[in-house]
Amino acid sequence: MTIRAGVFGATGYTGLELIALLAAHPDVALRFAASESRAGRSLRDVHAGAPDVPLIRPHDAPVGDIDVAFLCLPHAASATTAAWLLDRGPRVIDLSADFRLRDPAAYRQWYGADHPAPGLLGTAVYGLTEVARPLLPGARLVANPGCYATSILLPLHPLAGVGATRGTVIADSKSGVSGAGRVPKLHTHFVEVAENFAPYSIGRTHRHIAEIDQALAAWSAAPPLVVFSPHLLPVTRGILTTLYVPLAPDWDHARVHARLAQAFAGEPFVRVLPAGEAATLAHVLRTNRCVVGVHPAGRDGLAIVTSALDNLVKGAAGQALQNMNAMFGLPETRGLTA
Ligand SMILES: NC(=O)c1ccc[n+]([C@@H]2O[C@H](COP(=O)([O-])OP(=O)(O)OC[C@H]3O[C@@H](n4cnc5c(N)ncnc54)[C@H](OP(=O)(O)O)[C@@H]3O)[C@@H](O)[C@H]2O)c1
Repeated sequence: MTIRAGVFGATGYTGLELIALLAAHPDVALRFAASESRAGRSLRDVHAGAPDVPLIRPHDAPVGDIDVAFLCLPHAASATTAAWLLDRGPRVIDLSADFRLRDPAAYRQWYGADHPAPGLLGTAVYGLTEVARPLLPGARLVANPGCYATSILLPLHPLAGVGATRGTVIADSKSGVSGAGRVPKLHTHFVEVAENFAPYSIGRTHRHIAEIDQALAAWSAAPPLVVFSPHLLPVTRGILTTLYVPLAPDWDHARVHARLAQAFAGEPFVRVLPAGEAATLAHVLRTNRCVVGVHPAGRDGLAIVTSALDNLVKGAAGQALQNMNAMFGLPETRGLTA
């Protein structure tokens, strides 16, 4: 089987990463790469080392000629494009936040505008692959999770489902600067970032809190509340999250480790490290892996969980491709190095 694919937002960081993965995928024919800003050029002209893929105008894209479209666009632009595409046939995997929340009021609250296609919200599958797997073969619209959210939700899923946590989980995350996208902003300027290390959107103000709350509420009758401090790390890519997890009675860090090891046994892309080994960026960079470490906190009733992934791969393009594989009945590892 050959899956015919198209990409929108080709010149952004996730678009570039995805096109490199699609170009190397043995079962994918990349039919087009659409770019609003660089149509008429080659992707190689925009990024040194990128494949020589012609960039076309989004409205010239032969959307009737593809099986799946990947949207690597900013939110709002993505929802409008998804609605247009779904009327014309292809399945859609959206890397933006537009279809992650099921409630249009929550979208308005967190994204500051009415949803452009609220009727589609209830139809999207939240594509945290390891959890969404059974729903993916039938999905027409998949919302790829946020990069921070993936690093937080993957280790919490097996714990939330069995009532291992109680109260407030503190999530302390550090991300490389590519997480903010390619469009320059003052706070991602080299001089602001280099030799600096800064938190932002701390507490419960970062937009990924909304999808984290929604997922945990779906998994647990008594979901933990996540308090989240993201930081901008002066590296290009990678996320390292440290979770401080208050435990229910009868749980300790050893039981948490055993639970996570059992839940992820056999998962090609989630690796629970041996007891005492901490997750680091070096475990995951340029891979579709999420690695998880479990640590004692030096007091009863608390475990520390470390989780690392590459924001552009497992946090974006790699997870999108893993979702595509599951949607089309391919082994999830196809085109991704396990
Ligand atoms: N960066 C990450 O680590 C990451 C992780 C997970 C999810 N995401 C999400 O994935 C989406 C893409 O992220 P990214 O990091 O690839 O962003 P980016 O580097 O800023 O690229 C976005 C691309 O979208 C295209 N575009 C089309 N309409 C646009 C508009 N109105 N304004 C600005 N750009 C427009 C542009 O490419 P063309 O001119 O080629 O069309 C632009 O380069 C975002 O929604 C982001 O939140 C990002």
